[in-house]
Amino acid sequence: MPVDIIIGAQWGDEGKGKIVDLLSEDASIVARYQGGANAGHTVIYRGAQYVLHQIPSGIFHRRIRCIIGNGVVVDPEALLQEVRKVESLRINVRGRLFISHRAHLIMPYHKLLDLLAEESADGGRRIGTTGRGIGPAYTDKVARSGIRIVDLLSPARLKEKLTHNLSEKNRLIRRIYGKEELDADAIVAEYVKFDKRIDPFVTDTSLFLSRALREGKVVIAEGAQGALLDVDHGTYPFVTSSNPTAGGACTGLGIPPTSIRTVLGVAKAYTTRVGEGPFPTEDLGTVGETLRLTGGEFGATTGRPRRCGWYDAFAMQYVIRINGIEGLAITKLDVLDRFEEIRICTGYRTNGKTWKSFPTEPEVLSQTVPVYETFPGWRASTRSARSYGELPRNARRYLRALAELSGARLSYVSVGPSRRETIHILP
Ligand code: GDP
Ligand code: IMO
Ligand code: MG
Repeated sequence: MPVDIIIGAQWGDEGKGKIVDLLSEDASIVARYQGGANAGHTVIYRGAQYVLHQIPSGIFHRRIRCIIGNGVVVDPEALLQEVRKVESLRINVRGRLFISHRAHLIMPYHKLLDLLAEESADGGRRIGTTGRGIGPAYTDKVARSGIRIVDLLSPARLKEKLTHNLSEKNRLIRRIYGKEELDADAIVAEYVKFDKRIDPFVTDTSLFLSRALREGKVVIAEGAQGALLDVDHGTYPFVTSSNPTAGGACTGLGIPPTSIRTVLGVAKAYTTRVGEGPFPTEDLGTVGETLRLTGGEFGATTGRPRRCGWYDAFAMQYVIRINGIEGLAITKLDVLDRFEEIRICTGYRTNGKTWKSFPTEPEVLSQTVPVYETFPGWRASTRSARSYGELPRNARRYLRALAELSGARLSYVSVGPSRRETIHILP
């Protein structure tokens, strides 16, 4: 009963969408286990580019069933829009997409409070969130006042919970932020409407997965964000509010740890980060700018420019350790094609001290000086390579060093956004 977990091994946007779509060919189910519409997973389908926010990246394979697990925070309006978009491509979603009745809902006050908190935060406290209401929704979940998908199916309960929550949120909105209160009746009316439209998708997804696993079906658990944005293990407080790390797949889907077969980490051949927070290998000069322009490093969800820098093998050692990553899918190798020299960060130093493991405090992390190893570039296009042997010698040398310094084996190398632009490396 194999579950393969595919996670982002950096700060998000590693190319998970592409890799999940590619590996869906050999699976039956793709399941999202955390996050929400803060994710933007790009998939190329029939030559055109689509960005999925809540629907799992397996949807373009018609055989695949897709699950939105209990650990996801669901924005119903955005989800229904996404469903319509996929259906407009003549891809059937009904009977293929299942949403956990235990998943929590993003409410309009979550999005508003997300934006207000960011707006009013002074520089050092701003997270640079996506504004999708993620933090406030998970806050309510943990505070036990969240509203779940199952509540949509009972308008009376929905109204009771929502009215209660809103009385508190409105006080906050008015007294702390000095903004206009939200109207409870309008929100109830809006969310009651989602009931019938969401109903066909809602099920006990944990039970669904359990049956599929008993039948031997292959399930891909698709992580959103990245390990370094994990609320427990990431660069706290500059993180998201869920567990993108591999452990999150069990709690976010209701599957047992014993069902996990492997964990694949997706990482770019360099590093990017969007939003605030420490980023030791960030390059504020021409290297960063070249990576951003060549790699098209602008957010798939918010359009913000991504911060860019060299590959960080030291951070990767930490990520591999906490996730049990066995294989790496290295993406966007082609973005490095024109560099004369390429660097890999092999460690951090602070005031002459060398770090033995990944630092915990953001203040410390932002002051570390990365130690680099330099490699010669290959200055040739890798876009058409379809086997490891077809890559330029210096590209192979770079990849070999990257895998060795990180501590996991190379499983896939991606040299372009489409499915076919991928090199499969046999064990
Ligand atoms: P995700 O959030 O991890 O799914 O990643 P995003 O979709 O936010 O960002 C990855 C971007 O890189 C998308 O625009 C992809 O189409 C693109 N991409 C993925 N793999 C490659 C690759 O190997 N080369 C290039 N040039 N682009 C890629
Ligand atoms: P995918 O799945 C990159 C970042 C935000 C911010 C922090 C908290 O496409 O890789 P949030 O809105 O979650 O409260 O924001 O996390 N962030 C992402 N960065 N890729 C993502 O998703 C992200 N989702 C959230 O920029 O720094
Ligand atoms: Mg993304």
